[in-house]
Amino acid sequence: MTSGIEDIGHMKARVTDAVNMIQAAASMDEVERLRVRFLGRNGEISQWLRSLGQLPADQRRTFGLAANQAKQDVRQALNDRKDQLQASSVKRPMAWLDTTLPGIRSEVGRRHPLMRTVEEIKTILQGMGFRYDDYPEIEEEYYNFDALNTPPWHPSRDMHDSFYTEDGYVLRTHTSAFQVRAMRAMGKPPIRAMTSGRCYRRDQIDATHFPIFHQLDVIAIDRSISFADLKWTLYQMLTALLGPDISLRFRPSYFPFTTPSAEVDVHYRGRWMELLGSGMIRPEVLRNGGLDPGKCQGFAFGMGIDRITMARYNIDDIRLLYENEAAFLVQF
Ligand code: DAH
Repeated sequence: MTSGIEDIGHMKARVTDAVNMIQAAASMDEVERLRVRFLGRNGEISQWLRSLGQLPADQRRTFGLAANQAKQDVRQALNDRKDQLQASSVKRPMAWLDTTLPGIRSEVGRRHPLMRTVEEIKTILQGMGFRYDDYPEIEEEYYNFDALNTPPWHPSRDMHDSFYTEDGYVLRTHTSAFQVRAMRAMGKPPIRAMTSGRCYRRDQIDATHFPIFHQLDVIAIDRSISFADLKWTLYQMLTALLGPDISLRFRPSYFPFTTPSAEVDVHYRGRWMELLGSGMIRPEVLRNGGLDPGKCQGFAFGMGIDRITMARYNIDDIRLLYENEAAFLVQF
């Protein structure tokens, strides 16, 4: 008869040893060896159970219960350890990654300088009550030219200046194409609207010309709008954008869709720069927009975004704005 069966205290101590050994087992093989050692056919606990028969009848029950409990505890420990080893052996994806190391920020996208300028102007004008909407880049000739009082014989309609699609649309040559669309869409004055985006003209590419460029166009129409409102709006907008040290110069000019018309130059960082075209919207254009020129007037202006962006960020070649080289763009 084994020594331990007479002594429940000894049995309990052996179970504690067994559980400790099982918990320390480093592999499935080791767990299996321990199972055989304790629960196998000739295992320690199996022997206790087998020796029960030789005990005096009055002790069998107590020892039997203790031996069965020992068997359960050891089996539980074996199963727990197997589960643990199983779980930790599952391959962690990116196990090579030390998540405790300090992070490296990945390269994130950023606003293109042209979009920065547009967003700033947009915000300034929205603050003055102008609404922003996008309008088509592939435009009907009507809105790009005719509606703006630009007749078919006008030089700007020449095939050499504009891009046309095979099915007769024109890539808008200016954002002013939005004007009559906006009037028709918004109906009754007051109308305060703007748009911005790409425009296209057949230009020879050099440091200051590119066949794609950006403009922002604005209209304000109400029962009594004057050239003074145009000047005030431009001063507000441009000082907010460029700072208080600028001056503006209004030069009389001609556009088919405004009268009187003015080109506006800005004195910025020590030099004069042509910035925008502007004027009072012609009655013909208001009429094309479904408005009664006897009851309302409006001003309009349209500015190039490229040149002003180049001035603000000291960019000396317009091509940089369209090549989208990462080395250039990361500077903004
Ligand atoms: N569309 C003109 C251009 O591309 C600029 C312009 C002039 C826009 C007068 C206007 C305006 O809205 O009123 O050169």
